[in-house]
Amino acid sequence: MTNKISAKKVNLFYGTKQALFDINLDFKKNTVTSLIGPSGCGKSSFLRCVNRMNDTISSCKIEGKILLDGKDIYDKNLDLVLLRASVGMVFQKPNPFLKSIYENVAYGPRIHGLFNKKSELDEIVEKSLTKAGLFNEVKDRLHDQATGLSGGQQQRLCIARTIAIEPEVILMDEPCSALDPIATAKIEELIDELKTNFTIIIVTHSMQQAARVSNMTAFFNMGKIEEYDQTDVIFTNPKNAKTQDYITGRFG
Ligand SMILES: Nc1ncnc2c1ncn2[C@@H]1O[C@H](COP(=O)(O)OP(=O)(O)O)[C@@H](O)[C@H]1O
Ligand SMILES: [Mg+2]
Repeated sequence: MTNKISAKKVNLFYGTKQALFDINLDFKKNTVTSLIGPSGCGKSSFLRCVNRMNDTISSCKIEGKILLDGKDIYDKNLDLVLLRASVGMVFQKPNPFLKSIYENVAYGPRIHGLFNKKSELDEIVEKSLTKAGLFNEVKDRLHDQATGLSGGQQQRLCIARTIAIEPEVILMDEPCSALDPIATAKIEELIDELKTNFTIIIVTHSMQQAARVSNMTAFFNMGKIEEYDQTDVIFTNPKNAKTQDYITGRFG
């Protein structure tokens, strides 16, 4: 299977402080990969490299390459709007727009001109909400404010908003950290379904979550990859003593 995303010798600096060191990671299509490791080890910094979110941080400099389908996303001719359309992101805190549920999902398809008629947009909205496991809960109040939803529903709405423009890759940075256990379980189920169509990279501080949702797990420590392997290997038979210490709660 070919790699959907490939990080090649990625170094990242904030000013003079280096936050990532020589990161090499390959992500296969339609897999879920967890990024785990102690706070401040560079997980979010790396995730943001994959859709060039770090571009907005002026002190941030990146060396190396990130290939999406074999093409370097840091190429100066790359179209950022198209990149962000193919690599979507879901954040820690649900961040719906101050709009209706319908308009939150319709927003991306409107910007990218993905429909000709209102009925087609209605279809995209319904399909996206259905895939995000939210449609049945909101179908009678599509035109109510999104902020009236519970935290877990808002996060599923943000996922619906992300998938409405049919990205290929979805980045999730601790998407459940603001959610209760039931809402978390729903998002985890959803991730399992989404991997049929999308390549997913998820940052999580929960070992249980990484073990439950991902095919592959990368253990970051102090800006470096200590170990990257199939999730069951990382959690049952890690090769690196630091991985063992981390997953058994001895540090981090
Ligand atoms: N915008 C920023 N400016 C300067 N330093 C940053 C910025 N974002 C993160 N860092 C630093 O980079 C390192 C890695 O942070 P981060 O990627 O957020 O780690 P994690 O997500 O694993 O907790 C930390 O030392 C953090 O303080
Ligand atoms: Mg982080």
